[in-house]
Amino acid sequence: MKIIAILGSTGSIGQQVLDIVRAFPDELRVVALAGGKNLNLLERQIEEFRPEVFYSSVKPDRDCAGEFLSMEEMVSHPEVNLVVVATSGKAGLGPTLAALRAGKTVALASKEMLVMAGDIITREASLHGVQILPLDSEHSAIWQCLEGEEGSPQRLLLTASGGPFYNYSRSDLAKVTPEQALRHPVWKMGRKVTIDSATMMNKGLEVIEAHWLFSFPFDSIEVLVHPQSIVHSMVEFADGSLKAQLGPPDMRLPIQYALSYPQRWSNSTLPCLDWTSMKALNFELPDHSRFPCLKSAVDAGKSGGTYPAVLCAADEVAVELFLSHRISLTDIANTVQQTLQQHRSVAQPSLDDVLRADTWAREYAMRFSCGTTERSAPQSDDEGYR
Ligand SMILES: NC(=O)c1ccc[n+]([C@@H]2O[C@H](COP(=O)([O-])OP(=O)(O)OC[C@H]3O[C@@H](n4cnc5c(N)ncnc54)[C@H](OP(=O)(O)O)[C@@H]3O)[C@@H](O)[C@H]2O)c1
Repeated sequence: MKIIAILGSTGSIGQQVLDIVRAFPDELRVVALAGGKNLNLLERQIEEFRPEVFYSSVKPDRDCAGEFLSMEEMVSHPEVNLVVVATSGKAGLGPTLAALRAGKTVALASKEMLVMAGDIITREASLHGVQILPLDSEHSAIWQCLEGEEGSPQRLLLTASGGPFYNYSRSDLAKVTPEQALRHPVWKMGRKVTIDSATMMNKGLEVIEAHWLFSFPFDSIEVLVHPQSIVHSMVEFADGSLKAQLGPPDMRLPIQYALSYPQRWSNSTLPCLDWTSMKALNFELPDHSRFPCLKSAVDAGKSGGTYPAVLCAADEVAVELFLSHRISLTDIANTVQQTLQQHRSVAQPSLDDVLRADTWAREYAMRFSCGTTERSAPQSDDEGYR
């Protein structure tokens, strides 16, 4: 039996993980649940799943069944053998490292972890002999294509839906409202990842994740826009053969694969592809001029050091400002680019370097976006940052 701790159980991914747990009561048991501020939902989850331990970033004012522990403590619970990390932002970073150090298998949905600290996380995983199982549909697809293969893959092809505005001009993109951007045509996701999908930052973050998950050079990872989101990603091998993983765009499929691995379970509540209604599968190269976030992310990943942490933090700030109607959708890319440009990266960063870069980038991005920073002004030399 898999005995699970779920970090981010109240989020979009967390709730879908619990759907899978409901479908397999004999195979999966939840002993730890962690949420953020949505106490109502967390309390209902606690009532239903009766975990032994729980956490929320806001402490509940009434008694809940189970013991309140930090996320770092709950992932080390002796019974836990699988930790699902589905928190947004950097909240899951410390707990992910704690889980790896405690020797627990980690099923990773949160993109920020590998983007901010890919080197640190993958080193800890290999030091403790722990497997990181991808939950994201694209990385799950690559993982499934690589299963059973002995020859070296040559290229990873990550597919992208292109988001709701893929055919918009730059000037139309600048007029998009948060309400429009939150209506993704294919995937139902949390707010931050939905906006990242609209700017294609999401795909850039996924390229960095793929680099760390599969130890693959950036130059051999390509992005293809595939609006139908049926082919979740592909791998090209030395003989020129391509393997692809296909399925309906439903996150419960890759979630279940990670939870059931190395088996595949039958689940009648999950959809199957209807080939009769499928007219075409289209693929095209992304347009970097209208979606500059993708290139910014890949460049930050290639540059390494603390650049990816700065990318993540600046993007988080800019997305929040867009969602609160303070900047436009296209300003997100400007904020991220400017923050990256002003950053002086630390090579081979420690966790403290990563967290310092994150703090600096949040402050800089906020000042830049709100217009209080001289946009061309040189920076101070404090703490190693320009
Ligand atoms: N949604 C998708 O389809 C999808 C697909 C692939 C990858 N991902 C990645 O998975 C992660 C989660 O995405 P999501 O769409 O599920 O986001 P979401 O709906 O916003 O959920 C985020 C979760 O994190 C919790 N959280 C936030 N801050 C926290 C803190 N300081 N301490 C503890 N918990 C905290 C939230 O709690 P409250 O809601 O209670 O505040 C919520 O449970 C992201 O990194 C995203 O990029 C998502």
